Amino acid sequence: MTPDFWESRWRAGQIGFHEGAPNAFLQSHAAVLGAARQVLVPLCGKTEDLAFLAARGHTAVGVELVEDAARAFFSEHALTPAVSARGGFTAYAHGGITILVGDFFATTLDLLGPVDALYDRAALIALPEALRARYVAHLRALLPRGAGGLVVSVEYPQEAMAGPPFSVPEAEVRGHYAGLPIERIDRRPAEGGRLAALGPAAAEIAYRVQF
Ligand SMILES: C[S@@+](CC[C@H](N)C(=O)[O-])C[C@H]1O[C@@H](n2cnc3c(N)ncnc32)[C@H](O)[C@@H]1O
Repeated sequence: MTPDFWESRWRAGQIGFHEGAPNAFLQSHAAVLGAARQVLVPLCGKTEDLAFLAARGHTAVGVELVEDAARAFFSEHALTPAVSARGGFTAYAHGGITILVGDFFATTLDLLGPVDALYDRAALIALPEALRARYVAHLRALLPRGAGGLVVSVEYPQEAMAGPPFSVPEAEVRGHYAGLPIERIDRRPAEGGRLAALGPAAAEIAYRVQF
């Protein structure tokens, strides 16, 4: 998936991944994030989860490649963000929410600030297999020991559909987070779009990880 792929998805409004409301797993399992001050939301799109996290008292730091997504988040919330250049990224910030526009793989702790929890919904599964290990290795370098993480994956027979979203089965998720406590905490049938069309074979799975 090149940047062009995502740019054109956003330009064409092909954003079936956007839920338009806080994610059900996040609402049920927000306690996984504990009293984190700053929650990292990689590949955030314009998710409502940023607003949900801020309303819970966290600072939410999203990272998103496509600037239109950041603009849309704030305009749809009738907020005027402060926009500034930050280390090769463009930061859109208002209240407890910042979206850094740029490539997640180029993020550093200097840029993000002291993140102390992870919320990953449709980030791991947005990436092709070759990038997923690199993605989690980068997360593991950013999150401090003891940080909580809520990770949402999807599972379906990969041959039934081309990703994204990609099917990332439990064994692979556990492999990426090897050495850290990880627990499968919830499951629900996949809803919406191409995944729902696959029927009961498609499910969303939530994991709790401790860095
Ligand atoms: C499947 S969407 C999920 C968005 C969001 N997490 C949600 O739940 O609605 C993946 C998003 O990641 C963005 N993206 C893809 N690769 C990226 C990268 N390397 N760095 C930052 N964002 C990226 C895409 O533009 C897209 O908005």
